[in-house]
Amino acid sequence: MKSGWRSAAVVTGMMWACIAAGAQKQPNVPPEYEREGGPYVPTPNVVVDQMLTLANVGASDYVIDLGSGDGIIVLTAAHQRKSSGYGVDIDEELIRLSNLRAKSLGVSGRVLFEAKDIFKTDVSKATVVTLYLLPEFMRRLRPKLFNELKPGTRIVSHDYHFDEWQHDDDLSFDVPEKEFISGVPHATLYLWIVPAKVEGAWRLQLDGGGEYSLVLKQRYQNLEGTVETKGRQAGLLEPKMKGTEINFVLLQGATRGQFSGKVNGNRMEGTANFGDGKAMRWSASKGS
Ligand SMILES: C[S@@+](CC[C@H](N)C(=O)[O-])C[C@H]1O[C@@H](n2cnc3c(N)ncnc32)[C@H](O)[C@@H]1O
Repeated sequence: MKSGWRSAAVVTGMMWACIAAGAQKQPNVPPEYEREGGPYVPTPNVVVDQMLTLANVGASDYVIDLGSGDGIIVLTAAHQRKSSGYGVDIDEELIRLSNLRAKSLGVSGRVLFEAKDIFKTDVSKATVVTLYLLPEFMRRLRPKLFNELKPGTRIVSHDYHFDEWQHDDDLSFDVPEKEFISGVPHATLYLWIVPAKVEGAWRLQLDGGGEYSLVLKQRYQNLEGTVETKGRQAGLLEPKMKGTEINFVLLQGATRGQFSGKVNGNRMEGTANFGDGKAMRWSASKGS
């Protein structure tokens, strides 16, 4: 997979084709579609491997590459990591090639490529989404991915980020062969973990303890919150979301409660640690 069907000569040829395609409309793209996500520029194999590692792709994953080019990301994931997947691109010839390669690699039962516009693609089945798209397109794509992906889905992007939606992790490394493509011989990868939607009013209960009104404000994975009990209000400390995991600290007098839990739709539950080995279960349901 590292060489074989995608030999250096083919890739180099494709790169030059891509750079030319950046300036002109390509013949394989139906006239009703715009290649607004950018021209076809393949991600080098070494970068593909790092993207799959950063997203921790495994056999249970369903990887969707939006703007899949020659299919390299979904094909490598299926071939080397036994995942399933789906790729869309507006270039019909690249889609035809990708499906042919899936057959020759023996993974066509687990992956499919379709000619489709990214904005018309159903992404709800993804557990991992991969991207190598231009910055302005990334900004337009941000609300679709934030709203339509399941909480916990990992998104990995090659070189471009989502601006105000801060990434959860990143990785930069040298890639000499990228000098051809972008004039910059290194790559930066960004990882986001889609957070559960928790904004609103919640009723929180500690097992064998008190009842609290919790109000959360959310901006992507960043939270702010206030909690009220018996008429006394306090701010949540260190609130944080990571996919479906939520963490925050509540101070009650001199007691510090470290809350951690999992969100499942309109419910969340977990454990609160109060130091000295004292822990309690807690749960919360949405609605004041
Ligand atoms: C930079 S290439 C990335 C290819 C592949 N993901 C990779 O990393 O090797 C971007 C791809 O997005 C496709 N593309 C651009 N705009 C698109 C759109 N609106 N809908 C579907 N595909 C699009 C292009 O045809 C191109 O193949």
